[in-house]
Amino acid sequence: MSYQNILVDPQNAITTITINRPKKLNALNKDTIAELHDAFADANDDEDCRVIIITGSGEKAFVAGADISEFADFDVSEGANLARKGQELLFSFVANLETPVIAAVNGFALGGGLELALAAHFRVASDNAKMGLPEVSLGVIPGYGGTQRLPQLVGKGKAMELIMTAGMISADDAKAWGLVNYVVTQEELLPLCEKLAGKIARNSSTAIAAAIRSINANFDKTKNGFETEIEEFGKCFGTEDFEEGTTAFLEKRKPEF
Ligand code: COA
Repeated sequence: MSYQNILVDPQNAITTITINRPKKLNALNKDTIAELHDAFADANDDEDCRVIIITGSGEKAFVAGADISEFADFDVSEGANLARKGQELLFSFVANLETPVIAAVNGFALGGGLELALAAHFRVASDNAKMGLPEVSLGVIPGYGGTQRLPQLVGKGKAMELIMTAGMISADDAKAWGLVNYVVTQEELLPLCEKLAGKIARNSSTAIAAAIRSINANFDKTKNGFETEIEEFGKCFGTEDFEEGTTAFLEKRKPEF
């Protein structure tokens, strides 16, 4: 599929999706969100793809937010629709994807950019990255899941502070807050994400999908997380990967998933 605003690079088991609007600091307009949806859906359906890395092009920005020029004149129902569609198409879609998604945060991750990183399953940042949810400085609030996913990761008090001040935190502070797992130089960012992706790719993708569903259930008020874990655990016993994984262990060889 050909895209205007993103680059998709499938290499062995890892598909890297790069948001490619550097002149607009990779701001998420409607078309980019639609393209990202298609690219994530395709990668998730691709049997060869075991991990997805999402990053931004250039050295300045991961994503500097939703494209402000597109919604500046919206009314109340258009605003609600913008948030609902965005969450459905991209942010909740990514958070609930069966294929693991790593966000390689290579610069500014603001507003919808930080919300996209929050929707990924975990985050790695370059040392120049700056993160924040500045929406209240525009007279609006985060609408792509930021008010929900930020406190899940950093706690209520820090989320309140970051959102209310509309401030930005450094990569090192983001690591101290538990927002990102590692901070490395720009040059080391994709290699580290690829190394982590390689480790993930060696494991059972059906079991990883079950782990994602179970962990996400912990944050879904309509679900009982422990019950979800029991069901997902049980379902693993009916998979080829479970047979291969346990047989390989008993035969003292590496599993081939
Ligand atoms: N939406 C639309 N365009 C954006 C954008 C956004 N969220 N963020 C940056 N851009 C555009 C700028 O308008 C500018 O375009 P232009 O060259 O056509 O004027 C271009 O990207 C470069 O940005 P600029 O502001 O000149 O870069 P800077 O280095 O001076 O500042 C930021 C960088 C990130 C601090 C600044 O761009 C910014 O504050 N962006 C908005 C962040 C935000 O509020 N995001 C939440 C949106 S809900």
